Amino acid sequence: MSNNPDQDFDRAIDRAGTFSVKYDGRLSMFGQAEVMPLWVADMDFAAPAAVTDALLKRATHPVYGYTQFPDSLYKSLINWLAVRHGWQIEREWIIFCPGVVPSLSTSILALSKPGEAVIVQPPVYYPFFSVVNKSGRKLLYNALRQEQAHYSMDLADLAQQAATARILLLCSPHNPVGRVWSESELEKLLAIAKQHDLIIISDEIHADLIYPGNKHHMLASLADAPESVITAVAPSKTFNIPGLNLSALIVPHPVYRAAIREQLDVMHVSAANPFSIAAFTAAYQGGTAWLASLMDYLADTCEMVRQYLQDYLPQIKLTLSQGTYLLWLDCRNLGLSDDELRQFFILEAGIGLNPGISYGKEGSGFMRMNIGTPRHHIQQALDNIRNAWVQRSTSIQ
Ligand SMILES: Cc1ncc(COP(=O)(O)O)c(C=O)c1O
Repeated sequence: MSNNPDQDFDRAIDRAGTFSVKYDGRLSMFGQAEVMPLWVADMDFAAPAAVTDALLKRATHPVYGYTQFPDSLYKSLINWLAVRHGWQIEREWIIFCPGVVPSLSTSILALSKPGEAVIVQPPVYYPFFSVVNKSGRKLLYNALRQEQAHYSMDLADLAQQAATARILLLCSPHNPVGRVWSESELEKLLAIAKQHDLIIISDEIHADLIYPGNKHHMLASLADAPESVITAVAPSKTFNIPGLNLSALIVPHPVYRAAIREQLDVMHVSAANPFSIAAFTAAYQGGTAWLASLMDYLADTCEMVRQYLQDYLPQIKLTLSQGTYLLWLDCRNLGLSDDELRQFFILEAGIGLNPGISYGKEGSGFMRMNIGTPRHHIQQALDNIRNAWVQRSTSIQ
């Protein structure tokens, strides 16, 4: 156990009464209020002490008026990207937004016309479908390919689709399949985009959650012309502060930047909130040690799941995870339909997971498990699944 209470990831924190989607949304999501919630992507861990201290300090000033983005906020992001990811950005490229998904919709609305095509790579984080559909753009699917150990991009198909598309929505690292794209894959992607004049909106919200042995490359940092790439980042997943709703778009192209700002202006959307600014800055300035222990903890949990499934539940296969705290479980050998699979996990195992089918038809037979919770919860969940499966197998015989 760590000496820092904020790094004691084994500590179970009761989230009751905090209006959390993950806990308080169980009844509407699963039809049961009691399932063990391993779904929506936040963690059950305390944020870094630096964040909590900054929020408490801000709260002691009793006036919570309209706020502007301070220099310290810009500097914290510029410094984080330079030190952690080796990417030097200009301050003027940054546009703060109230969350990554809104920043994706805003970019699509600003940079394409109704009816133009946007490519997505399923199985993928399902709001990628809705931000395209709801903005009246056309979805094109460049499905990932499932290889032995992990997924890869179908670049030949992408090159074809790119000929008629305006935008590619990239998920890097990829939710839900846990891929951290290699430098060479990303370079090929950039070459295709350049050839077809395709804008890439790169959602890199999971960029800091990388397991040992893998390296995340910020797409724009690899481009000869970073202007073609719009990058969405946030400290929200990294430091477990997604409820605070502050993210950033990094837009080197001045014309794209102006269009995105104008789109935000149309809706009078401002993300300047005194609490989110305090948390964002403090996380990037003071969260490095916390993040290192978090990643050690998650890597151990991931290995525990892999070993458990191999030893006791070989019907469920874990897709090799290179990043994110979201595991992609291949349950196809259980021989259940998507509906039966969902019911099995909810009603028989008492676990609330995200059904793979929500991430596109390529996710059929899969389930997504969020391991951002004390390891003993995951151990309990695995025991529940194993017992439920044994029970089902014996009752069928
Ligand atoms: C790839 C990806 N993008 C965006 C989000 C959500 O971002 P926000 O809450 O800032 O809209 C998530 C959350 O799971 C995600 O996985």
